[in-house]
Amino acid sequence: MELLKDRILRDGIVKAGNVLKVDSFLNHQIDIRLMDEIGREFYRRFQDERITKILTIEASGIAVACAAARYFSVPVVFARKAKSSTLDTNAYTARIKSFTHKDTNWAMVSANYLDEDDQVLIIDDFMAEGNAAQGLLEICDYAGATVVGVGVVIEKGFQGGGDALRENGIHVESLAIVESMGPEGIKFRD
Ligand code: G4P
Repeated sequence: MELLKDRILRDGIVKAGNVLKVDSFLNHQIDIRLMDEIGREFYRRFQDERITKILTIEASGIAVACAAARYFSVPVVFARKAKSSTLDTNAYTARIKSFTHKDTNWAMVSANYLDEDDQVLIIDDFMAEGNAAQGLLEICDYAGATVVGVGVVIEKGFQGGGDALRENGIHVESLAIVESMGPEGIKFRD
């Protein structure tokens, strides 16, 4: 998605630890017009699939999921994060290790909002090692829901999460795949 890549090149800031800061338009302040185009692009890429729900994880995934959901006209469900596993028997949980933040969270989705009739599109803002996506896939598995694909705004290709999912036969669509970033600048996969 050229509009997004141009914006990353213009406003993205490469930080230590392989972190790309996009706070000025995606993760803190949100450019709502760009967000709408992102939602439209996810729709273009997944419009042939039957989708009943979009699943994401708090916090930054929610805005992206909502932008996409407007085009699909389906509800958004976001996994809540908790420091410990919930005792709620009416919920699905998965443990998610964060490479970037070097911590572990539990993600939780109530069984009221996900079941075996659901055809799920997983959406997130970033993919690094893919731990968040793996956790959401696990939750769908527990719920008996079908995952039709994973949509990511910015994939850091050099961290391998997206390719690992693709190798497992999952339809992954990333709107920008960063192949490398550093003093030489940001390079995207074609
Ligand atoms: P993974 O799920 O793909 O393995 O990634 P990782 O554990 O590294 O990601 C943890 C968090 O950091 C996620 O947000 C992810 O979206 C975000 N993240 C990963 N790499 C980058 C990056 O280069 N730049 C930015 N801006 N974010 C990155 P989170 O913990 O769920 O936090 P939230 O911001 O959504 O609340």
